[in-house]
Amino acid sequence: MESNQTKDHRLNLLALLGFNAFVIPGLLKQIEMLKICCIGAGYVGGPTMAVIALKCPNIQVAVVDISVPRITAWNSDNLPIYEPGLDDVVKQCRGKNLFFSTDVEKHVCEADIVFVSVNTPTKTRGLGAGKAADLTYWESAARMIADVSKSDKIVVEKSTVPVKTAEAIEKILTHNSKGINFQILSNPEFLAEGTAIQDLFHPDRVLIGGRETPGGQKAIQTLKSVYAHWVPEENIITTNLWSAELSKLAANAFLAQRISSVNAMSALCEATGANVYQVAYAVGKDTRIGPKFLNASVGFGGSCFQKDILNLVYICECNGLPEVAEYWKQVIKINDYQKSRFVNRVVASMFNTVSNKKIAILGFAFKKDTGDTRETPAIDVCKGLLGDKACVSIYDPQVTEDQIQRDLTLNKFDWDHPIHLQPMSPTAVKQVAVVWDAYEATKGAHAICILTEWDEFKSLDYQRIYDNMQKPAFVFDGRNVVDLEKLREIGFIVYSIGKPLDAWLKDMPAIA
Ligand code: UDX
Ligand code: ADP
Repeated sequence: MESNQTKDHRLNLLALLGFNAFVIPGLLKQIEMLKICCIGAGYVGGPTMAVIALKCPNIQVAVVDISVPRITAWNSDNLPIYEPGLDDVVKQCRGKNLFFSTDVEKHVCEADIVFVSVNTPTKTRGLGAGKAADLTYWESAARMIADVSKSDKIVVEKSTVPVKTAEAIEKILTHNSKGINFQILSNPEFLAEGTAIQDLFHPDRVLIGGRETPGGQKAIQTLKSVYAHWVPEENIITTNLWSAELSKLAANAFLAQRISSVNAMSALCEATGANVYQVAYAVGKDTRIGPKFLNASVGFGGSCFQKDILNLVYICECNGLPEVAEYWKQVIKINDYQKSRFVNRVVASMFNTVSNKKIAILGFAFKKDTGDTRETPAIDVCKGLLGDKACVSIYDPQVTEDQIQRDLTLNKFDWDHPIHLQPMSPTAVKQVAVVWDAYEATKGAHAICILTEWDEFKSLDYQRIYDNMQKPAFVFDGRNVVDLEKLREIGFIVYSIGKPLDAWLKDMPAIA
């Protein structure tokens, strides 16, 4: 039985879209016609659309992508991304009101609302290389929408884009519109991987930006009605287009800044004998600061933080604000410093050479509970160790060997182009072994580097591991996973970021 609340939403949606079906018979048939299409079946598009389909049974949701393997995987029992709770949501809706397809044009043509969630890589060449977002994929999606559309549409920016992208997209759409009315909205996604489904179920806020025209406001209300199926209205914030676009970059920059702040402190803690976890706890107890995102680590990774800050920096520079640009650049610099500091610590501790030494890498994903490796600090750490001729043996419960080999051969920023789905380079790194067990990875190793905070690394049998390693046996914990004292009792020489150093490590200072 449909609840009154759901029915109200549906009526609202139709009214906002301009349907007058609610005053004529056959209402239900019209309502069922409301269609959403999402271009880009990635980490954002897939989970977000699955949750919309689950929460809005009367909306038809199609997720489309040019990548055949991705869509095939979405239609199989082996979804293309690992995300706790996602399987369940997809199983409940797929084939009912949730569809995955490569027929991009058909679904875009039929949709009332088109979400665009395609790649926005950092430019690797030309103007703004290494900073600005490459909008090639966005632009081609916009041109395709303009080409195939036969009815009015709301086009929603979902992937993070530079401020003022909406304006550019609007120009492409309106110049090719054949009289069709397009309303552009910015609806940035704040989900974090590993907790995406919970974040989507209970978002801190949903942000919708649109034009301050009657058409823009109507479009905002339409999208708001979709989210209002399950998000309390007071948590749905509406703004102008540019505020929404900038808020996404700002939120990620603020979060990353906290991590760089605590990581900067970790270096000082090691130098002075303070413990960064105690410092972070004390600092975070101040309610004005709060405890979240203060975990010192080997560095932040993920597809968003670095890319969004680089974007922010570029926008500042373009707007004649070099001091502001420099300020945010420092967040990235400290992150790079933290990764190289870690590598230097490993090499310096092991008598200044890791040449031909086996080093076990536990964890390759950029955080736990995801198989995503985009911008993972593990790439830089492994490349640093390989540069010093180490032999690395990598274990991660969710990342495949192909992915790891590809990551270690790709150039910076290349990961965000769909072209990276092409076969791996034949010159894959030979000093790299990928194994499916932590014990196998550590057998005969001189050292262990823990680079992802997978829960299973907390409960490994470290005595067994120690017994099978070369001596002295080192543990470099980049994620504060291990029980330092227990491991030291076993006999390991242990380094944990920002914690007081072993006498051994003090005698072999790492130079960053
Ligand atoms: C981030 C934002 O949190 C999310 O709102 C946005 O939509 C996308 O970018 P995500 O990258 O998925 O999400 O993960 P997040 O939990 O933010 O972690 C990012 C990186 O920071 C990870 O490498 C994580 O290990 C690291 N991190 C996080 C720390 O090193 N210390 C912390 O205290 C928190
Ligand atoms: P995100 O983390 O933002 O979701 P992903 O890289 O996981 O980013 O997903 C983006 C998806 O967009 C990829 O699967 C890619 O194949 C798809 N894509 C890129 N351009 C287009 C396009 N023009 N039409 C359809 N899909 C596209």
